[in-house]
Amino acid sequence: MKTRHRIILADSRIMKDIGDDSIDLAVTSPPYPMIEMWDELFSSLSPTCADTLKLGDGNAAFEAMHVELDMVWRELYRVLKPGAFACINIGDATRTIGERFRLYSNHSRIVTAFRTLGLDCLPVILWRKQTNAPNKFMGSGMLAAGAYVTLEHEYVLVFRKDAKRQFSTNAEKSARMKSAFFWEERNKWFSDVWDFKGIVQGLKHGDLRSRSGAYPLELAYRLINMYSLYEDTVLDPFLGTGTTTFASLACGRNSVGIEIDGAFSSLILEQADSFLGIANELVSTRIGDHRQFIASRVQSKGSMKYVNEPHGFPVITRQETALQLHRVTQIVSSPGLSIEASYEPVGRLDDSACAEREKKLLRNTGAKQGALDL
Ligand SMILES: C[S@@+](CC[C@H](N)C(=O)[O-])C[C@H]1O[C@@H](n2cnc3c(N)ncnc32)[C@H](O)[C@@H]1O
Repeated sequence: MKTRHRIILADSRIMKDIGDDSIDLAVTSPPYPMIEMWDELFSSLSPTCADTLKLGDGNAAFEAMHVELDMVWRELYRVLKPGAFACINIGDATRTIGERFRLYSNHSRIVTAFRTLGLDCLPVILWRKQTNAPNKFMGSGMLAAGAYVTLEHEYVLVFRKDAKRQFSTNAEKSARMKSAFFWEERNKWFSDVWDFKGIVQGLKHGDLRSRSGAYPLELAYRLINMYSLYEDTVLDPFLGTGTTTFASLACGRNSVGIEIDGAFSSLILEQADSFLGIANELVSTRIGDHRQFIASRVQSKGSMKYVNEPHGFPVITRQETALQLHRVTQIVSSPGLSIEASYEPVGRLDDSACAEREKKLLRNTGAKQGALDL
């Protein structure tokens, strides 16, 4: 398997390089309206943003900024395939403008924009981002009727264009089975509150990271596994430091990322060389976590009914029996702003120590003997 990752330096309000109905999944995080770090960018996109901020008209500035994002959402709708998902990470903003403290509800404005375009809104994920900052409480302190609750979450909004994606042919059904995730991953990933405390952040970008509002690799990695298949194409119209590119690569998906700020592209290409280790670590962790899960499940509930054919370990459901993980074997980046990755399937004989452990595990679980051909 091979995947390709394109980085396009452009303004995603017009996605002229991307064809209609060509994208299987969008994962992105726009600049957040009414968060000060993005004022300059919005002002450069539209003089109305600058003027309304200067006038101290918070509501007008909020709307003007969303009008710029609406243009991207319109293009996003055009390029998504029917049945494709779009996952938008967004936080609300609180701010005092013209002596009025208000919440600017970015997530609800974006839900309205997508619904108006005709996408279906699906259950959302709350990303819990707790802060220990001593000044996190806003307003009048211990005095009633003037203090405000702290924003300690962001959203991942989930939408779908048109009716459900169909998997009709044998090839489509088989691709879907290979792209499955583990039962225990489903239980964690499809919960509606996510907390990445304690999860290692794989990418480092120094100063640019804090300037970019980057999301954790784990966030994009989960979403891509949850809503797309191997060799699908993932789009991020607000690419920043390239987290979506790297997560797509690690998931065995193709990707296209669009970024207006040229400072990020060389950083993304530089990171590509060292990403092979991180991508393979993600896969090893998934396998290791699954083995641990099996071991404790067998102890508490006894033997498991199914065996995953490619890997040879027990799984809970029939849907996991053809799940196949891949290791990245090579990453080649070109100054033409593209990255190519090659993969090999993780096989049963990859690691004899693991194979031995699996044999023992299978004997203990009493799972089907065919799975012991290691
Ligand atoms: C919140 S950041 C995205 C961070 C990214 N998810 C990451 O993990 O690094 C938003 C990015 O969108 C870019 N951007 C803003 N407006 C844009 C536009 N119209 N077209 C393309 N990129 C844009 C900004 O330069 C910024 O890098």
